[in-house]
Amino acid sequence: MSDVAVIGAGYVGITTAACLAHLGHSVVAGDIDSARVDALNRGEIPIHEDGLSELVAEGLESGRLRFVLGASAAVADAEFIFLCVPTPQGDDGSADLSFIDAVVLEIAGSLRSGSVVINKSTVPVGTTRRVQRLLGEAGGSIDEIGVASNPEFLREGTSVRDFLHASRVVVGCDNSATAVRVSELYAGVHAPIVVTDPASAEMIKYASNAFLATKISFMNAIANLCEALDADVSEVALGMGYDTRIGFEFLQPGPGYGGSCFPKDTSALMHAAHAAGAEFPLLQGVIDGNVAQHERMIDKAKRLVGGDLRGVEVAILGLAFKANTDDVRDSPAVYVARRLSEEGATLRAYDPKAAANSVLIDSMTRVDSVTEAAKGASLMVVLTEWDEFRWLNFDEIGEALEKRIVLDTRNILDPVALRRRGWIYEGVGR
Ligand code: NAD
Ligand code: UGA
Repeated sequence: MSDVAVIGAGYVGITTAACLAHLGHSVVAGDIDSARVDALNRGEIPIHEDGLSELVAEGLESGRLRFVLGASAAVADAEFIFLCVPTPQGDDGSADLSFIDAVVLEIAGSLRSGSVVINKSTVPVGTTRRVQRLLGEAGGSIDEIGVASNPEFLREGTSVRDFLHASRVVVGCDNSATAVRVSELYAGVHAPIVVTDPASAEMIKYASNAFLATKISFMNAIANLCEALDADVSEVALGMGYDTRIGFEFLQPGPGYGGSCFPKDTSALMHAAHAAGAEFPLLQGVIDGNVAQHERMIDKAKRLVGGDLRGVEVAILGLAFKANTDDVRDSPAVYVARRLSEEGATLRAYDPKAAANSVLIDSMTRVDSVTEAAKGASLMVVLTEWDEFRWLNFDEIGEALEKRIVLDTRNILDPVALRRRGWIYEGVGR
């Protein structure tokens, strides 16, 4: 099987490397973080992803997977080079391509003839061609090196499953023989393969994330209407979801979407639209509606404590941007916690996995259990939909709280059961 290099050992890179090794390829993954590389070579996974440590262990044991320091060291013998480095939001809202550029310039001189540079990072339309141009400028033998776009659609928390049981594999390449070679890497993943041009492949990724973000903002708007008109958004979502054209997924209202991708990718697409002279008011509405949804949670919290959060002790349940991940990047939970702190509240926060990640908020202390967070608090705010929070002993938590008031921004608790126990319950859209 082919020799593969993966550049960047983060959520996408480790998953890609481990899954391709599992599929039988020989994989070397390079990262600039030496502590991370050493840990990975010992089989220690720096992120929380179900099934990933088992796959990394399998790869290390079989000799098909190893981690090295730096991109150049990884590409030496590789036929296929996956770029999995960050593409964060730049100051002007566009995608910052400096990590991509740096890697391309670093590896240009080390690529072997016939190799293919495959971009898996989420990048604006035109980046595949930019990579091709940079390789040429940096002295790579460009005629002998292929370039392709292969966007990634995995979700954090289920990255291994999403990779091995992908909904589709998209390959954007001008050269059909190269596209076939890239597609063949996925033999063993039983997914439809969409072979297209690089620009369309890049747009597929942004359009997919923007569409999913739109679904969420739409449901948040419906939830807010449900509150005004006395309907229950959970019932509405159920009744909508049976229509297969709509589907059940991504109809869950909440504190607004977050994470390392939707916010930056919607912003980058908006920026690209402006740069192309195109209007996209629908997407702008999705973005604005999302920030308004975060702020709506602050209004609810204020209302629940009588209008003023100054001096109020609040128990925070969850800091991760969604359940089953330790990732707090652009987390709506962190946004809401920070704003509550700015409004004068004192916070005690518990998250089952995000605890080790650094979230520094004035007047917030981190604790090790829900009960500790609840001690003496006059408001409990559920911000991440961890299963652990669904099955709490509410009598015990109620004893610990100063006041039995809960703001359930994820609609995971049972309002009827809680109200029966004397709690004041506020959800989203119900
Ligand atoms: P990440 O921050 O978790 O990991 C990136 C890794 O790249 C880090 O370990 C970093 O040290 C390393 N790196 C940076 N510069 C490097 C260099 N010059 N050489 C070698 N390594 C280098 O990022 P991520 O979440 O895996 O995202 C990577 C890309 O994939 C982004 O474009 C993102 O939008 C996209 N994406 C992410 C997800 C996701 O769920 N996280 C899903 C699909 C697509
Ligand atoms: C998302 C996409 O789902 C992936 O397909 C994509 O590959 C990835 O972004 C990316 O490009 O990085 P991820 O960010 O891991 O994956 O998380 P999601 O499960 O999509 O959730 C994103 C945010 O939306 C979270 O804050 C989540 O709580 C929120 N959400 C999700 C809702 O508020 N309601 C829903 O119904 C679904």
